[in-house]
Amino acid sequence: MSAAEVALEIRDLHKSYGSLEVLKGISLTACDGDVISILGSSGSGKSTFLRCLNLLESPSKGSISFVGENLELKMGKQGGLEAASQKQLERMRASIGFVFQNFNLWPHMTIIENIMEAPVHVLKQDKQTVRNNAERYLEKVGLSAKKDSYPNQLSGGQQQRVAIARALAMEPQILLFDEPTSALDPELVNEVLSVMRDLAAEGRTMLIVTHEMRFARDVSSQVVFLHEGRIEEMGVPEKVFTNPDSDRCRAFLSSHL
Ligand SMILES: Nc1ncnc2c1ncn2[C@@H]1O[C@H](COP(=O)(O)OP(=O)(O)OP(=O)(O)O)[C@@H](O)[C@H]1O
Ligand SMILES: [Mg+2]
Repeated sequence: MSAAEVALEIRDLHKSYGSLEVLKGISLTACDGDVISILGSSGSGKSTFLRCLNLLESPSKGSISFVGENLELKMGKQGGLEAASQKQLERMRASIGFVFQNFNLWPHMTIIENIMEAPVHVLKQDKQTVRNNAERYLEKVGLSAKKDSYPNQLSGGQQQRVAIARALAMEPQILLFDEPTSALDPELVNEVLSVMRDLAAEGRTMLIVTHEMRFARDVSSQVVFLHEGRIEEMGVPEKVFTNPDSDRCRAFLSSHL
C-alpha cells in the first residue's frame, strides 16, 4: 500500500487579536482519509484555528499547504496574512467544505436550491448535473423528501444534515466541522453524528471540532487537544483517551465523560 497523500499541512500557525495571541504556533498534518478531532476548552482557539485554514481569519504567521500546494500569503495592512492570489484562495476555498455550528442555510431558498447554489454559481457547473448531484447528496443524508421545503420547516438536526449535503455538493477534498452538533437538542445529535460516521467510513478527510467524546474516540485517526492556543496533546484516540501525557488533557477528558 502506498503512503497516504498529504491533504493539509499547517506549519507554525499563529494568530493574534490585538495584543492577545490566541494561536501560538500550531503545526498539524492531515493525510488523505484522516479524521482529526480537535478538543479543548472554550476559548482555547479551536474555531480560530479552523477559520484560519481558509483565511476566514487572517493568521499572523505560519504556512498552510493544501494537497501539495502552498497557499501564497502576504502581509496585509492590518498586520495579518492575506492571500497573495485571490484566485488561488478561491480555488482552495472551493475544495474545503466548512460546516458550522449554526448551519447558515439561506432562509429564502428551498433545501435543494441551498445545495445547488455554490456548485452553480462558484463552480459554474451545468444546472441539471448539479440538481442530480444535489438529489444524490440529499439522499445520502436521508432528506430526499424535504428537497422543496424551506430551512425553517426543518428541525435543527435536519438543517445540519442539509448543511453537510451542501458542503458535499462542492466535492471538497477536505471537510471542516466546527461543533456541528452543539446547537442541537440532544435527541437530534445522533442523526448528525451518524451522517458524519458514514463520511468517515467512506474515507473522507475531516477535521472536526467537537465535544462529543464517544464519537471522537470512535471515528478519529488522530485526536488533538488544544490548550491556550497550543497543541498540548496529540495522538491516536486509544492513547489520548486512556493514557494522555498531559494532566490538563486528562482533566479535560474526565470532565467531559
Ligand atoms: N474576533 C475576535 N476578536 C477578539 N478576540 C477574539 C475574536 N474571536 C475570538 N477571540 C478570542 O480568541 C480566543 C479563542 O477563541 P475561539 O473562538 O477560537 O475559541 P474556541 O476554542 O472555539 O471556544 P468555544 O469552545 O467556546 O467555541 C478566545 O479568547 C476569544 O475570546
Ligand atoms: Mg469555537
